[in-house]
Amino acid sequence: MTSLADKLVPESVKKLIPYQSARRIARGMTNKADHLWLNANELESCCQYGDEKQGVNSHYNRYPDFLPSDIADAYRCYCEQFYCEAMDHQLNDECEVMAVRGADEAIDLLVRTFCQPGNDQILVCPPTYGMYEFCADSLGVKTAVVPLTAEFQLDLAKIVPELEKTSIVFLCSPNNPTGNVLQQQDLLILLERTKDQALVVVDEAYIEFAPESSVVHLMAQYPHLIVIRTLSKAFGLAAIRVGFLIADQSVMSYVARLVAPYPIADPSAEIALKALTSSGLAQMQAQTTHLIEIRDWFINEVSQLPMVEKVYYSCTNFVLIRFKGQTNFYEYLLNKGIVARSPANEPSVKGCVRISIGSVNSMNKTLQVLQEYQ
Ligand SMILES: Cc1ncc(COP(=O)(O)O)c(C=O)c1O
Repeated sequence: MTSLADKLVPESVKKLIPYQSARRIARGMTNKADHLWLNANELESCCQYGDEKQGVNSHYNRYPDFLPSDIADAYRCYCEQFYCEAMDHQLNDECEVMAVRGADEAIDLLVRTFCQPGNDQILVCPPTYGMYEFCADSLGVKTAVVPLTAEFQLDLAKIVPELEKTSIVFLCSPNNPTGNVLQQQDLLILLERTKDQALVVVDEAYIEFAPESSVVHLMAQYPHLIVIRTLSKAFGLAAIRVGFLIADQSVMSYVARLVAPYPIADPSAEIALKALTSSGLAQMQAQTTHLIEIRDWFINEVSQLPMVEKVYYSCTNFVLIRFKGQTNFYEYLLNKGIVARSPANEPSVKGCVRISIGSVNSMNKTLQVLQEYQ
């Protein structure tokens, strides 16, 4: 049966024969340990830079796994345990997980796989994460823009007419920079409408802060639904650059043709695997609970400041604040040594400031600086 991915993928990608990296060729070979590995122009001897304790690990002379399946398997278990069992669902066998270099690489890969420059378009709903449009722009792919409603929800009436021309709809829930989750009933309507038309990507970078809003359990029912995840946020591992693409195998078989050889460096893979053990997951959950406590306390305090018009409800590790008057509070905070973010180009959040939730000390300091404003 022809899948939606088959219909959308450009001929050039269909014809593409994946680059045969040394590790890809060796995949599936048995007795690997008995062989002499002289096929990847690696240094065969191990190197030790630095002293024995702090030096680099000796096996780094070898390329890593082509697509590390151990991290992908560990992430799949995490998804099933935390996001599917609670919903009485399972990830079906057709659903595949791929570890990539951060959620950003997943976005780029999807646009490159399914959109032909000059021919195809993606659809985004701002205010939202800027990388979807940036990736499309950088590849010469058009972006249809349908802003979120005043409540930061999907404007389905305006999205639907655009679907015929759209290859990928990029959604973000919980959304950056607004901090809210998209309503599941809207997502379900969109998934029904897009079935034969467009892939729907839900970027769940902040999902650990609102796990009940995940759509991962809907993937069995909607094979054109793709979920993006990351270890950069709740897991606190932004520096290792590990994210995940979760998609039906009909989608993944094309994405796998374009993925860079050896996307995950060994040191990153080792850390990711530790984070995905049961003790790693327990630690992530404890730090998430703690962060949510700090966030809710901070929101309560900030809401009482006279120059604050509104603090938006947040399901993430940041808050979006709307200030009264003309003062640029992004600049004000910056001048006091606090670097926040102003979602500058978005009319509906003009003048708002997005503040990441840090330690109690950092949030106290931020509060104090805002209290001192006159
Ligand atoms: C919604 C969203 N998606 C993806 C990313 C990028 O994640 P990663 O660090 O995994 O590339 C971010 C980073 O801020 C984000 O806010």
